[in-house]
Amino acid sequence: MSEETSNRVFADGILKGRVALVTGGGTGITGGVARALAEAGARVALVSRKIENLEPAAALIREGVGGDAQAFAADVRDYAQVERAVAGCVEHFGRLDIVVNGAAGNFLCPAEELSPNGFGTVVDIDLKGTFNVCRAAFEELKKRRGLILNISATLHYGGTPLQLHVSAAKAGVDALTRNLAVEWGAHGIRSNAIAPGPIEDTEGMKRLVPPDIKERLRKRIPLGRFGRIRDVEQCAVFLCSDAAAFINGAVIAVDGGHWLGGTRLL
Ligand code: HXC
Repeated sequence: MSEETSNRVFADGILKGRVALVTGGGTGITGGVARALAEAGARVALVSRKIENLEPAAALIREGVGGDAQAFAADVRDYAQVERAVAGCVEHFGRLDIVVNGAAGNFLCPAEELSPNGFGTVVDIDLKGTFNVCRAAFEELKKRRGLILNISATLHYGGTPLQLHVSAAKAGVDALTRNLAVEWGAHGIRSNAIAPGPIEDTEGMKRLVPPDIKERLRKRIPLGRFGRIRDVEQCAVFLCSDAAAFINGAVIAVDGGHWLGGTRLL
């Protein structure tokens, strides 16, 4: 499938009328997801700590996609700030249907050198931040029979060196995804996650994977290439659409089969 074809796999406007709040929506994978939801017709609220990342991303969506996007600065670790961002979104757009939790922190660090605060900081951003946003959005999601989409990882399916903190946090995100699917499914709220594998055009990949390891990593991906942000975007649009109306509690790896491909015998 060419890049050009892959841009047109969904019918126009499949998310028309919906409002999505996307954390980490200014940059990287979640920045792409926010833009893709807007391309599918949703109005989007972009949330992260740095308003200087959010404003250009929101402007790009308004001007490039012709969608409606607003920036709301908040640190997902701070519940009061998250509540204000959710209230701001509802005040501006009049509703909230979709929450995408993509705000994440990461650095490479051996476990024996990781400080308790370093561990806690990543868990606070990735896991507690995800809870904070879901919790703050609950009443609005309940009104709309809305949905939650968490951005997880595949790091914790095995043991990934230098990634203890992120692996622990993302394992928690998977647990939260499944728990909310069960508890809030009763309100018609679907809760799912995407676990991206190695995605080439990201800051994380540039910063976390040294060039000499990159080619070895690519060879371990059964589909023979790195993922693209577009690959994650398309899964996100699908999960946020009515095509996924009966999918609840799923964690979908978008990794070209990478985590399954690392055979230990050969
Ligand atoms: C060791 C580190 C460190 C590093 C920070 N810390 N960077 N420890 N190595 N490189 C420790 C600090 O020493 C401190 O502990 C604690 O973490 C908090 O650091 P602060 O800088 O005070 O915190 P803060 O300003 O809140 O920054 C949080 C951050 C941030 C996570 C460290 O730098 C960040 O968000 N970075 C990039 C975000 C990012 O790349 N997101 C994409 C994620 S990709 P002490 O004990 O000293 O007080 C992703 C996908 C995974 O998640 C898949 C990858 C292949």
